[in-house]
Amino acid sequence: MKDKGLRGKFIVIDGPDGAGKSTQREMLARRLKDYGLAVVTCRDPGGTEIGDRIRSVLLDHDLSVMDVHCEALLFMASRAQLVGEVIRPAIKACKTVVCDRFVSSTCAYQGAAGFDPQRVIELAKFAIDDCWPDLTILLDVDADAGLDRVGRRPANAGRNRKKEQGQSTLAFEKGSAIPDAMEARSLEFHRRVRQLFREIHDYYPTPVVSVDASASADDVHRGVVEAIDRAFE
Ligand code: TYD
Repeated sequence: MKDKGLRGKFIVIDGPDGAGKSTQREMLARRLKDYGLAVVTCRDPGGTEIGDRIRSVLLDHDLSVMDVHCEALLFMASRAQLVGEVIRPAIKACKTVVCDRFVSSTCAYQGAAGFDPQRVIELAKFAIDDCWPDLTILLDVDADAGLDRVGRRPANAGRNRKKEQGQSTLAFEKGSAIPDAMEARSLEFHRRVRQLFREIHDYYPTPVVSVDASASADDVHRGVVEAIDRAFE
């Protein structure tokens, strides 16, 4: 990997819950710093004071009462602040931005909850003022394996169909960690999320590459570095 070509670039790492995004974000950031780049890492939702407050509304909330349009707009609102306050200034200062999740997550998650993923793109054009990532790396992992990794596997995917469009609170296996509102959705929902992530290449406005995230962190990191090398060679 060369540093040249990566200054002022905006890279997103995205994927289903338990794909290992934050680990990969940190490994990539370290590597880029070793190459002499000034790196800014951030996460979406959140990453700013205002965004963190929106994040807590989203994640500490009973989603069975939140309309999916409201949900999509709140994610976009948090993101608008992140772009204006952190991402765009960093790009302008020729720093390399590595962000955990972005618009691609709204396509997959709110898409799985019934919101048309292509309309997410229209919404995003306004929210992020066309500040699209130069590259989105999708860490592809099976929904079951991902939830197992974070120790938050729903006990029964079909038990609560209160809102089939994904907005359900489920019983969790005894001893599993307490999930946030998003993770508490059904296994079926998480499977749809993975499928929608896999379809993003078809309509996303900027390049998206998939990396198999089922391997060890070091192997996945190698895949991430190769993807970046290919994209910015
Ligand atoms: P977070 O704690 O950041 O999870 P992770 O560590 O997996 O990134 O919580 C973010 C949750 O919000 C996660 O389950 C995915 C979901 N989400 C959406 O539903 N839509 C979005 O646009 C984004 C960015 C996240």
